[in-house]
Amino acid sequence: MESPRSSYADDESSSIGRGTSTIEESGRSSPAYSYHSSIDGAVLLREVHGRTLNNTRDQYILPVDMTEHNRLNVQHEMLKIKLGGLFLQPRAVQRALVPRNGSIPAVLDVGSGSGSWVLDMGEMFPHAEVVGLDLAPANLPREPTPNCRFECDDVNFGLSHYKNSFDVVHARCVDTGIADYPHFLKDVHQVLRPGGVFLSVSGSSKMLGKDFEPCVKGKVDPSVPSENNTATLLAGFHEAARARGAKTETFLYIRGWLEEMGKNAWSTVGETTFYVPVGPWQESMTDKDRHIATLMNHDIIRLLASTRPSLLSYGYPEQVVDNWIEKAEDELRHMRKKMYVRWICTWAVKVGTPGEDPEEHNLT
Ligand SMILES: C[S@@+](CC[C@H](N)C(=O)[O-])C[C@H]1O[C@@H](n2cnc3c(N)ncnc32)[C@H](O)[C@@H]1O
Repeated sequence: MESPRSSYADDESSSIGRGTSTIEESGRSSPAYSYHSSIDGAVLLREVHGRTLNNTRDQYILPVDMTEHNRLNVQHEMLKIKLGGLFLQPRAVQRALVPRNGSIPAVLDVGSGSGSWVLDMGEMFPHAEVVGLDLAPANLPREPTPNCRFECDDVNFGLSHYKNSFDVVHARCVDTGIADYPHFLKDVHQVLRPGGVFLSVSGSSKMLGKDFEPCVKGKVDPSVPSENNTATLLAGFHEAARARGAKTETFLYIRGWLEEMGKNAWSTVGETTFYVPVGPWQESMTDKDRHIATLMNHDIIRLLASTRPSLLSYGYPEQVVDNWIEKAEDELRHMRKKMYVRWICTWAVKVGTPGEDPEEHNLT
């Protein structure tokens, strides 16, 4: 199948207005072509039950429109506070992105969504090139710095055109769109330069209760009224995603897959897990944790409507879905259910030292 690769700086339908960029303007050679919203939008996007979804990868079933991108911006702010910045492992990232002779330090954000992380990284590392790659065009919340570039592509088509091109690869909340994650990790290893850093961040939309156990176990029965509409709707969303071929619990295995690649591939592999309350319902919370939990609550409220097109496409009756959404929103706004979202951050540092000959450290 032909890859629909395209690149763009911005587009007239976004909050800052989009235009087109050429390969020459972007300053690096790549197989990308310019993005024109009026032409490529029709190819890359499709309307499903009143929302815009990507038209390339059937297994990724959340919308890619401005409403969803606004939700992702809330989540982005929440994660920045929770992680204490744009990424974990700051020493390894700073080391990989040190300015040097010979090559421009470069960052790839796989599944860049609204573009917020790319924009922030572009501002934080003005000497580096930051590339956002996504199935769909971003809705940039502000003007990007000139070192940022966006491409439309499906990462499942491979990344061999980017061999030895990046010092940091970031993949946040993109797992369900990746068909074969262990294969993706091999691609990531190949595109990283020596000493390069891979960063993954994933949260599960499977709601957990106070005991960290799933609130809903087993298959959803839409004919039975739910005691927890938020968890039921999101369990239904997981079923809908799995029916399209998505793997919904990938984040549990990323660390193991990285370790299986061996010590010749990665000098360091690590992982951390945290649980974010959906709303500030815990009795004693710091102001910071209260703020994080509030943003998590706003994120999940917005997620409810984003699941609607895929729940309807999966076959749940419209009345049931709209009833779930209405009741779930009420549960969340009043924090009637005490729930957590589990997040897992995984990282790996490629063997070698930044600036070394990349071929010395590539796997055969
Ligand atoms: C949940 S959003 C997360 C966006 C962003 N990483 C963030 O954390 O805000 C997942 C994004 O990954 C993109 N995506 C999913 N599968 C993809 C694939 N196979 N190739 C490229 N992008 C993909 C989607 O279009 C969507 O924008």
